[in-house]
Amino acid sequence: MKAYFGDFGGRFVPELLAPPLTELEEAMRRWLPDPGFREELDGLLRDYAGRPSPLTFCPRLSEDLGINLWLKREDLLHGGSHKINNTLGQGLLARRIGKTTLAAETGAGQHGVATAMAAARLGMESLIFMGEADVERQSSNVLRMRLMGSGVVSVKDGTRTLKDAINEALRHWIATQKTTHYCFGTAAGPHPFPSLVAEFQSVIGGEIREEFLKKSGKLPDAVVACVGGGSNAIGAFRAFLADKDVALVGVEAAGTGEPGCHNSAPLNLGSPGILHGQFSMLLQDKEGQVLPSHSVSAGLDYPGVGPEHSHLRAVGRVRYDLANDDEAIEAFRLLSLREGIIPALESSHALAWVAKNARNLKKGANVVVNLSGRGDKDLGIYGNHRGRSGEGTG
Ligand SMILES: Cc1ncc(COP(=O)(O)O)c(C=O)c1O
Repeated sequence: MKAYFGDFGGRFVPELLAPPLTELEEAMRRWLPDPGFREELDGLLRDYAGRPSPLTFCPRLSEDLGINLWLKREDLLHGGSHKINNTLGQGLLARRIGKTTLAAETGAGQHGVATAMAAARLGMESLIFMGEADVERQSSNVLRMRLMGSGVVSVKDGTRTLKDAINEALRHWIATQKTTHYCFGTAAGPHPFPSLVAEFQSVIGGEIREEFLKKSGKLPDAVVACVGGGSNAIGAFRAFLADKDVALVGVEAAGTGEPGCHNSAPLNLGSPGILHGQFSMLLQDKEGQVLPSHSVSAGLDYPGVGPEHSHLRAVGRVRYDLANDDEAIEAFRLLSLREGIIPALESSHALAWVAKNARNLKKGANVVVNLSGRGDKDLGIYGNHRGRSGEGTG
């Protein structure tokens, strides 16, 4: 189990957090290879979450763009996003260690919802930390969490978004570690979380590979995913890292697209630094103070990113590029209109990149976009954004 990916990763935490992280690392070593654990997780992924998720061809957008566009349908999983892959895995692990409560941070609310689901299903308590700004912009998910029995703590510090929710959840974990497992929602944070979350999410890329080979007898030309903390992207990419002919593209949020710090793109616009227990790319000022991030999508609104992505960028295996708020909103509209699929605003960034770059790809290239979530939660934001830009809600 790797603590570092090249120069990036590590475990930069207060001494008080070392015991539960070591306990978790030991539990991973003990239980992840265990056939009984795997069987229980696979059963839940299949019968409760709805795996395998389909690989859907998009005939109309493919024609528009001159490529073959495929979607990995994580939006069709129970709860509406890829986050359930990770929470079921961590929930089972936490139960084996003897914890009774799952605590979690959430931005878009999807990880909070997925944690609440896992806790309800596994007979555990759950407590979700969410920035006040995200509580407002993703209110339908707050209702879902509460309905499934979760406490939701609205965090009023800092930018009142994901970064601040993680700070508060880590503080809570220090005080409650005997009974609580911190169910981290993305492939970032202190070791072993980046490895653990990537392990649970890599089911995505494994299925893309198998399904695509079955459908066409070859591998896709490109796999594209949005990058917040990095879990759906690393989950989609891992199975293809050794296949040099498969282009891997991670898409960060360029935010408003204006100069200055109105983005959530540490891989493209940040520098190496420490946040939330890891050394990785980060939006920070010259003194190392973390800068506020911005994205129209709450799930990408984070100034940091997981260490494996920083490494894959440094060695040039994955291309990391940008899509801004307006481009994501337009992609949200386009997929809804042309294919009858309403994507999450997070995933819309990956679609926007494909729409922008299709003309630079070879004609007929097979491009798989990881559709990490569904967009019901984002309808209000879409309406407001279109209203503000004077276009109506179209
Ligand atoms: C649907 C969806 N996609 C993507 C993300 C970004 O997270 P990650 O980069 O860990 O996949 C989120 C986060 O909340 C999300 O809800």
